[in-house]
Amino acid sequence: MPQQLKSLLVVFAVFIGGLVAARHFLLPPTFGERGHYRAAAVVTIERLPVRYAGREACGVCHDEIASVHRNARHQTVACEVCHGPAVAHTESPTENKLPAPRERGYCPLCHGYDPSRPTGFPQIDPVAHNPLKPCITCHNPHQPEPPHVPGECSACHGEIARTKALSHHALLDCTQCHKTPLQHKIKPREVRPEKPLTREFCGGCHAQNARAPKNVPRINLETHGGRYVCWQCHYPHLPEAR
Ligand code: HEC
Ligand code: HEC
Ligand code: HEC
Ligand code: HEC
Ligand code: HEC
Ligand code: HEC
Ligand code: HEC
Ligand code: HEC
Repeated sequence: MPQQLKSLLVVFAVFIGGLVAARHFLLPPTFGERGHYRAAAVVTIERLPVRYAGREACGVCHDEIASVHRNARHQTVACEVCHGPAVAHTESPTENKLPAPRERGYCPLCHGYDPSRPTGFPQIDPVAHNPLKPCITCHNPHQPEPPHVPGECSACHGEIARTKALSHHALLDCTQCHKTPLQHKIKPREVRPEKPLTREFCGGCHAQNARAPKNVPRINLETHGGRYVCWQCHYPHLPEAR
């Protein structure tokens, strides 16, 4: 056997020996009792102190706030998201006071404008939106519905509005393409606006014989783009023809 192979075999033997020894001496005692885990981890975790009380617990003493919150737009944001873990507070409330995030910097953690947030999530520009005053002077944190219905679609669809403002469709109102019931601004997930469904809708301005101003570019509605709907190729909020 060549010398190199012999050295290699020794290296392997030491390595495998090492693994076997490590398995024997280093594995925690209960490893493997319930599959590829340390079974005693369950006990360790059970011993950790419980810190969150859950929102049901709050209603016992803060009935009024809990019932307002239950029907408000913040219903999906649990009490302890804003007030912190509260088991100690529920046991002796006067000794363990909870903080309340009253400062203006807090709310933009969720509501500051960020293009990666889902469309329709209410977002504001913290610099421009009613500056200087704390958010809670106008929005009740437990029922944050704005004091009056937002006028502009951009209050909730900022990304689309900003995109459209720079496009060839800048001068079209959102409502020219989306018939929008007023209730959409109050219960946006339940009451939806309409969306254009057909090629003929866009043809209403862009077909050769459409009754629209002269500057509107025309296409042959029969042939242009085949049988596909227009927004397969043109994003309607930025319809550049490239
Ligand atoms: C056993 C009754 C009880 C329960 C349960 C309870 N609280 Fe309280 N909470 C109180 C009392 C009493 C006060 C007033 C304490 C004081 O001002 O000394 C208070 C005050 C507060 C405050 C006021 C802090 C401030 O700055 O004014 C907040 C916030 C609060 N509770 C949140 C919660 C939340 C969240 C829960 C549920 C996890 C909860 N509480 C559960 C009795 C309770
Ligand atoms: C979005 C964050 C947020 C959520 C969610 C929230 N709170 Fe508050 N809470 C606040 C802020 C901010 C204040 C301070 C309001 C003020 O000073 O006007 C406050 C104040 C309070 C107070 C003391 C002042 C008062 O109005 O009596 C209590 C009690 C309280 N919250 C309980 C709750 C309970 C119970 C829940 C869940 C049902 C809850 N909060 C959910 C942010 C929140
Ligand atoms: C001076 C009162 C005032 C203050 C302060 C204020 N807002 Fe508003 N907010 C409003 C009004 C009024 C609207 C309704 C839309 C509009 O007219 O701009 C609104 C709309 C919103 C919206 C859009 C909600 C929707 O459904 O359209 C969000 C989100 C919002 N505010 C969050 C905040 C946050 C976060 C702060 C603190 C950084 C804050 N607001 C401070 C008055 C205020
Ligand atoms: C943990 C994230 C989170 C925090 C912190 C938070 N919010 Fe919200 N907020 C939400 C969610 C979720 C909604 C509901 C969005 C929906 O229904 O699509 C919402 C809705 C709103 C709305 C829209 C209500 C409407 O009817 O249009 C306003 C205004 C608002 N929050 C203000 C605030 C204010 C003021 C604070 C600070 C006290 C705050 N939020 C803190 C998550 C948060
Ligand atoms: C209070 C916040 C709010 C305001 C103001 C608002 N929307 Fe919406 N909009 C939403 C939410 C939330 C959704 C649902 C997003 C989702 O579920 O993906 C939505 C969805 C939509 C959709 C998609 C509907 C669908 O079925 O896919 C259209 C189109 C739309 N909005 C148009 C508008 C127009 C146009 C305006 C202004 C006239 C407007 N919205 C004002 C919150 C708002
Ligand atoms: C030229 C017509 C037109 C205008 C103007 C227009 N939209 Fe649309 N919008 C559409 C079409 C078409 C769709 C469907 C696209 C699809 O299904 O892929 C759509 C889809 C949407 C959606 C669904 C989600 C998405 O991103 O596709 C929302 C929300 C929306 N529009 C909001 C708005 C708002 C807010 C404005 C005004 C700032 C606006 N639209 C202006 C034609 C238009
Ligand atoms: C298969 C992809 C596709 C579809 C579907 C499509 N288009 Fe186009 N469109 C293009 C391309 C590529 C261009 C740029 C080259 C050209 O002028 O043919 C364009 C150009 C245009 C122009 C500019 C013409 C000019 O003279 O400046 C308009 C307006 C237009 N399309 C509207 C529409 C409308 C309305 C629909 C639906 C009825 C539609 N498009 C469907 C791909 C498409
Ligand atoms: C109410 C009339 C109207 C409707 C409806 C309409 N558009 Fe337009 N469109 C215009 C106007 C006005 C222009 C640009 C005029 C200019 O740039 O001077 C334009 C421009 C365009 C362009 C050319 C962009 C370029 O690069 O030159 C395309 C592509 C386009 N629209 C696609 C669509 C699609 C797709 C729809 C349907 C979702 C649609 N339009 C619905 C009025 C309309």
